[in-house]
Amino acid sequence: MSKIAIMGAMPEEIDPIIATLHDLRKTEYADNTYYEGSYKGQQVVLAYSKIGKVFAALTATILIEKFGCEKLLFSGVAGAISEELKIGDLIIADGLCQHDLDITAFGHPYGYVPEGDVCIWADSALRESARQVARSKGLTLKEGIIATGDQFVADKARKAWIGETFKADALEMEGAAVAVVCNALDVPFFILRAISDSADMDAGFDFDAFLVSSAKTSAAFILAMVEKIK
Ligand code: ADE
Repeated sequence: MSKIAIMGAMPEEIDPIIATLHDLRKTEYADNTYYEGSYKGQQVVLAYSKIGKVFAALTATILIEKFGCEKLLFSGVAGAISEELKIGDLIIADGLCQHDLDITAFGHPYGYVPEGDVCIWADSALRESARQVARSKGLTLKEGIIATGDQFVADKARKAWIGETFKADALEMEGAAVAVVCNALDVPFFILRAISDSADMDAGFDFDAFLVSSAKTSAAFILAMVEKIK
């Protein structure tokens, strides 16, 4: 049976999932801890990467290349850009882009480097499974572009610029890095986020207040996804 990788960026994002696993085994590798176990008979490998694009790319690569995971699901929290998204709401990425990637000095669009793409699309079958899970649980699931950058956004103007430039609905700090790795290695991936803040002047306060509860909301949905796709 194929193994599924489940990734978060912070302990709060994967601890609720680790707590449900059977036959848990820990491996220390590349300055991080990887957790292998089973959920309802499905083999899974979990890790939190630490925050940001570089750590996220490293962890996604290791989950695929060292642990042999054939699908990757990301669970975590995000800042809302869309007015529709409130704290605790779920969004899945249809596409992911890097809002802090800028070689516009050479005439390229924001988020683009030669031989890359501004936007990388998440796996359509996994997104369809997510819609079915949401329907069966009576949950509202928004789909949209998620913008990633090595920046905690707590500023209305920056948030508005990211929203306009990338048509993004939410922002975070890892998704597009995972997308680049999975796309290059041809591994289907899925990025889910529950909103922890609105990336405005209250974002730092809201993030601290809602990280744990929103991370749990995302984790519960990811577990339902694992059950659905196993
Ligand atoms: N993740 C959750 N909230 C965020 C924010 N405001 N900026 C960047 N990443 C986030």
